[in-house]
Amino acid sequence: MSKFYKKIIRQLLFKMPTETAHEFGVESLKLGLAPKLAQKLAAQFLQEEAFGKLPRFGLNFKSPMGIAAGFDKNGVVVNQLAALGFGFVEVGTVTFNPQKGNEKPRLFRLPEDEALINRLGFNNEGTRKVVERLKKINPACVLGVNIGKNKDVPNEEAVENYLKSFDPASTVADYIAVNVSSPNTPNLRQLQKAENLEELLTALQKRNRELSAKPLLVKIAPDLSEAEIEAVADIAVRLNLSGIIATNTTINRSHLKTSRDNIDEIGSGGLSGKPLRRRSTEVISKIYKYSNGKIPIVGVGGIFTAEDAFEKIAAGACLIQAYTGFVYQGFTFARDINKGLSAILKKKGFKSLDEAVGINTK
Ligand SMILES: Cc1cc2nc3c(=O)[nH]c(=O)nc-3n(C[C@H](O)[C@H](O)[C@H](O)COP(=O)(O)O)c2cc1C
Repeated sequence: MSKFYKKIIRQLLFKMPTETAHEFGVESLKLGLAPKLAQKLAAQFLQEEAFGKLPRFGLNFKSPMGIAAGFDKNGVVVNQLAALGFGFVEVGTVTFNPQKGNEKPRLFRLPEDEALINRLGFNNEGTRKVVERLKKINPACVLGVNIGKNKDVPNEEAVENYLKSFDPASTVADYIAVNVSSPNTPNLRQLQKAENLEELLTALQKRNRELSAKPLLVKIAPDLSEAEIEAVADIAVRLNLSGIIATNTTINRSHLKTSRDNIDEIGSGGLSGKPLRRRSTEVISKIYKYSNGKIPIVGVGGIFTAEDAFEKIAAGACLIQAYTGFVYQGFTFARDINKGLSAILKKKGFKSLDEAVGINTK
C-alpha cells in the first residue's frame, strides 16, 4: 500500500505545485477518496490493545500518533484523518480574524532531503468559522485546536488577540495549543521570550480557569537555546500547563542535500521533515531531563518511520505528531507507525508505551 502510494499517487502529487497537491490531498480526504483499504487496515489494527490506555492530561488517546498543526488548518477533515489511524488531530493554526497568508508560491518540496519548506503565514478561515464547523462534527479522536496571532496585530496587543481566539476555540477543543513558534509571522517567535511568554500564558490560563479549564499546551521552536528551553519549561511548570509541543519547523538550513542555489531560491520559511528529526529529539530530551519527566511532551519533527517514533518516545515524548512524513509516506502512514511502534515496544520487552517514555535519558 505504501509502495503503491510512493510509486503512483506520490508521483502524481509531486508533479503538481506543492500547495495544489496539498489542497488536492485534503479535498480527496473530504470526498472520502482516501483508499478504503487504508481505512480498513487502520481499523483492523486495534490501537488500544497495542498501547494500553493512553491517559494524557485528562484525555484518553486511542493512539499516540497525531497529525500535527498545519495539515488541517480549517478543521475540514478531522474524522477522515481519525479513520486513517491518527489518535489526535490538531486543527489550525487559527487566528481570530481570517487571513490569506503570504504570497504564493509559499510551500516547497525538497525531495532529496525528504523535507518541506513553508512560509504559508497562517492562511486560515478565522477561529469563529472553524469553530462553527467543528461544532457540527462528532470527533472520532482527540481534537486539539492550535491558536496563533493575526499578522496585522503587533506583539503588544498579542494577548488580547490570542484571548479572542481562545474563547471560541475552548468551546470545541479537547485541548488548546498556543503557537508562538511559527517563523512565518513577523516577530511571533519573540513571544517565546520568558517575559512575553509568561504574560501571554498567564492570561490564557486565567481565562481557561474561568471557562472550561481545558488542557493548555505551548508549541515551541527547535531554534531556541538551552537557556531559552529551560525558561519555557520553568514557565510551563509554574503555570501548570498540560504540556509542551516540541517542535515547530526550523529556520536552520545546515546539512541539507539540496543545493545551496535551490535553497537560496526558495528563500525564507520553516523547514520540516527528515533534516529536523535529530534537533527536535534533542529538544524533547532536554525538556524531559530538565523537568525530571514532569512535563508531558508531544514530540514532533521528522517522524517518517516507527523507529523515528520510538526515538521520540525514548527521548521523553508521551505523544507524537507528524506532518511531512504523512506527505512523503501516504495514507497508511499513521497505521504503519502505530503497528511498527507497537512491534518495537513488544520486541524491546516494554509492557506498555508508558514504560518506554524517556528511557534513553535515564
Ligand atoms: C506546510 C506546513 C504548514 C504548517 N503549519 C503549521 C501551523 O499552522 N501551525 C503550527 O503550529 N505548525 C505548523 N506546521 C509545523 C508542523 O505542525 C510541525 O511542527 C513541523 O512540520 C515538524 O513536523 P514534521 O517534520 O513531521 O513535519 C506546519 C508544517 C508544514 C510542513
